[in-house]
Amino acid sequence: MAKKYITTAIPYMNGDPHIGHAIDYCLGDVCARYYTLRGNEVRLQAGTDEHGNKIFNKAKEVGVSVQEFVDEKTETFKNFIEKLGVSYTDFVRTTDPEHMKRVQEIWKKLEKHIYRAKYQGWYCTGCERFITDKEYEENGGICPDHNKSYERLEEENYYFRISDFKDRILEAITSGEMKILPDFREKEIIKLLKESPDVSVSRPISQLTWGVPIPGDESQVTYVWIDALSNYLTVLGYPDEDISEWWPAAAQFVGKDILRFHAIIWPAMLLGLGLPLPKTIVSHGMILADGQKMSKSVGNVINPIEVVEKYGLDAFRYYFLRHIDTFSDSNFTWQRFSDAYNNELANDLGNLVQRLSTLAMKNNISIEETEYEFTKEYNELMEKFYFSKALDYVWVRIQELNKRIDAEKPWSLAKNGETEKLQKCLKNLISDLLANAKMLEPFLPASSEKIFEIFRGSITSPETPLFPKG
Ligand code: MSP
Repeated sequence: MAKKYITTAIPYMNGDPHIGHAIDYCLGDVCARYYTLRGNEVRLQAGTDEHGNKIFNKAKEVGVSVQEFVDEKTETFKNFIEKLGVSYTDFVRTTDPEHMKRVQEIWKKLEKHIYRAKYQGWYCTGCERFITDKEYEENGGICPDHNKSYERLEEENYYFRISDFKDRILEAITSGEMKILPDFREKEIIKLLKESPDVSVSRPISQLTWGVPIPGDESQVTYVWIDALSNYLTVLGYPDEDISEWWPAAAQFVGKDILRFHAIIWPAMLLGLGLPLPKTIVSHGMILADGQKMSKSVGNVINPIEVVEKYGLDAFRYYFLRHIDTFSDSNFTWQRFSDAYNNELANDLGNLVQRLSTLAMKNNISIEETEYEFTKEYNELMEKFYFSKALDYVWVRIQELNKRIDAEKPWSLAKNGETEKLQKCLKNLISDLLANAKMLEPFLPASSEKIFEIFRGSITSPETPLFPKG
């Protein structure tokens, strides 16, 4: 079976984890669990992006050394990832000496596409991005994502010749060699790629000290995105180790705000290194709170751990993977969350398990161990990364099962002494429930396991409801 390498964006260590970070992890994790269940050998990377002025300044503001600051933030993020049940296999910090050494080697390999020139223009520290004059004008000098004025820069930098790779990247996108999802984002990238200038890939040390030094030029430090994007390779051991078993990645999950880096600079770097391009870049939307961008100053930031502690991990995963659309921006409201919890998890699924286990126990049903296969429709949705649609699909089947119990009335069969018919009816219903539980496994691993425990061998009743009413 093929090996699959799946990656998630590495968050900046300038703040605490929030719901937006959770989305990357949930998507990557579902994908990893799905392919593991299909029999693939899977590696799921996670990590932390620790360089740059944004982080450096934050540490100064708090009054601790930068190293201390990022060490502490990384611990917080690691705990967060654990709490979300993320099945990552590899973790990378951009301040790892090994990673930094490898970034320098990557730089050396790219040198023939790099030249020195003067940069005069704008920069956004929030995005860690050089801004074109056109964008500056369009946005009135203020970054719409960070609500901060762009900074004016005049400095000598190294540039990466994106123009060397534009045609090849375009061809890879249009031929499907490197798929960008969703399609409407792919179209945006094609347009952006055509207009894309060469990018500045270093900053003078006078402007940025907290970063990877450029090999052979102590006056310059690597631009954070070159350092950060390299993580996907350095964590596999590149360039010291042969990574051909794992690279190209099967899927790279990123938010729409950072798609341009992953769909333009990143492929250019890979081509410059002579490496194949990722098979798919999956770009997810943003989560809004009550229709607004989440921000500390508005006070509408949703803390994912609060949701997990209140409702349980599977309920969190369920909501964010089904009701937050995989590709477009979605809104979070506590009302919608609690409606989904009560109506769908507690009523549709929880009651179904309760009803069937009670009926099965009363009537001495036992279930043989069988392997449940994923359906074709489910596989198609999962392979296309339509995770929210795959959950919709399973849910229709769960609701149909509830209706079937009502229609087939096993309690009447029992009352009329139709034992054989009753056995068959309950066995069929349970087996269909278990087939659905199997398809829920990548999404709700603990609940799926609990359902299998209840219906394995001689059936037991769940000690506590699967989803207690909240
Ligand atoms: N450090 C860079 C990524 C480097 S990857 C080589 C970065 N960090 S971030 O902390 O700003 O964002 C990390 C991930 O969280 C990104 O995929 C981003 O899109 C995602 N989200 C941050 N806020 C979000 C929402 N409100 N909603 C959904 N995801 C968003 O960018």
